[in-house]
Amino acid sequence: MGSLHKGHAKLIKSAMDLDATKSSKVLVSVFINPLQFGDNEDFERYPRNLENDCALAKASGASAIWAPSFEEVFKGGASSHFQLKVPSNLEAHLCGPKRPGHFDGVATVMVRLLTLVRPQKLFLGEKDWQQLVILRHLINNLGLPIEIVGIDTVRDADGLAYSSRNKYLTPEQRQKALALPRLLANAAKEVRYGNSVNLKDLQNMLEQHNLEVEYVETVDPFQLQSTKTDQKICILAAAVNCGGTRLIDHTFLMPRPPIIAIDGPAGAGKSTVTRALAKRLNLIYLDTGAMYRAVTWLIQTQNIDPQDNIAVMRILENLNLELNQSEAGDQKILINSHDVTEIIRSPEVTSFVSTVAAINSVREALTIQQKQIGIKGGLVAEGRDIGTAVFPDADLKIFLTASAVERARRRASDLKSRGFATQDLNTLEAEIKERDRIDSTRKISPLLKADDAIELISDGMTIENVIDSILEIFHSRIPKEVWPIDHP
Ligand code: DC
Repeated sequence: MGSLHKGHAKLIKSAMDLDATKSSKVLVSVFINPLQFGDNEDFERYPRNLENDCALAKASGASAIWAPSFEEVFKGGASSHFQLKVPSNLEAHLCGPKRPGHFDGVATVMVRLLTLVRPQKLFLGEKDWQQLVILRHLINNLGLPIEIVGIDTVRDADGLAYSSRNKYLTPEQRQKALALPRLLANAAKEVRYGNSVNLKDLQNMLEQHNLEVEYVETVDPFQLQSTKTDQKICILAAAVNCGGTRLIDHTFLMPRPPIIAIDGPAGAGKSTVTRALAKRLNLIYLDTGAMYRAVTWLIQTQNIDPQDNIAVMRILENLNLELNQSEAGDQKILINSHDVTEIIRSPEVTSFVSTVAAINSVREALTIQQKQIGIKGGLVAEGRDIGTAVFPDADLKIFLTASAVERARRRASDLKSRGFATQDLNTLEAEIKERDRIDSTRKISPLLKADDAIELISDGMTIENVIDSILEIFHSRIPKEVWPIDHP
């Protein structure tokens, strides 16, 4: 909406930097959108300074600035245009209830601007987190071929997030306003130390600084719903009124490092993707399929009938399953001190593992161990039931799949690279379909896409494409600022 500041400058610079080909143009739009202001809000006095905006956009590297009139955007007037309605769940919290119609106005104008410009990418600030999330849902929902890139909040040296409305603050008011970022940052620190945050206390502290509190809330970062657990990463957001100026800010509460769940059928590329993600985000890699394979190997080598519950229970009681991760991110699997890393990939184990993975006692024992490994968070786990049964509180759930033909092709090349004899593609495809059938029809924890998982179909995508897509989705929920690639 203009009155550009350092936050906008960062959006422009990031757009320039992210274009590896340097052939794209960065367009800055300046449009003070009347549809997103309520009757008693500051549309009339909102700061306008197009001359400065042009200078800042140019200095930051923009190719052009576009400041259309109201008529250029809404030919025939606003009332002759379609108005969008944001789904009520996305505006049920934070600014939504306090600013009725605001996000509808934002959505309506954004779709109009985007269809006029048709950009490849849209750079938006993370400071307006709810707006960013709503626009991600909108673009996804309408299937617009535009990638949204969120850029982290830029703060002034005193900690106040840049906002065009900061211009309204007198020096005294600004001093008071600083309590907002300071108290939010303190809360985030407390949570990192294992303490909890009392929202009522936080509100009282803000009020002690003469800030009139509109809301202090915690919501999950993507669906913007109240969080049911204090075990999950969430957003702590607040809006205050400081001498007539409305200020918003937020922080992330991280009671534990992130958990990513990657489920899906055999051969969808889960292992390669999960290992690479763990390495890029510096998280532990947990291959739960390897655990089922190791138990299968043990049952096979001890000639145990999987139907013999007592014999299986005996094996589980004495089970010592170790997953050791090397510096390079590779995982060694030891069962009762035998290194089975390679042998569990053999066709013999592969053809029997679904049967063993369907045994209740095996699933119970391994699920307990997996939950234990993830108790402090900080991992990427792959399997079939990670998002549904093992880590239902995961911060990101991906259901990675591919057609059976594609998975058979990949399995053949995997077997070849491991030195095992390959079967013909039709046999492999039939085997894969049979494994899918057993895995998805078993009684406990069947292979199932969790309701809140994102499905990625990897046919025609390279492994790098899949990893990049998942990283992008991850960072749309837990920004780079909070958990960067190559996290230390
Ligand atoms: O991913 P994979 O092919 O290594 O998995 C081996 C088998 O283990 C697979 O047939 C399904 C089963 N499995 C499971 O039932 N639950 C998990 N969480 C992981 C694997």
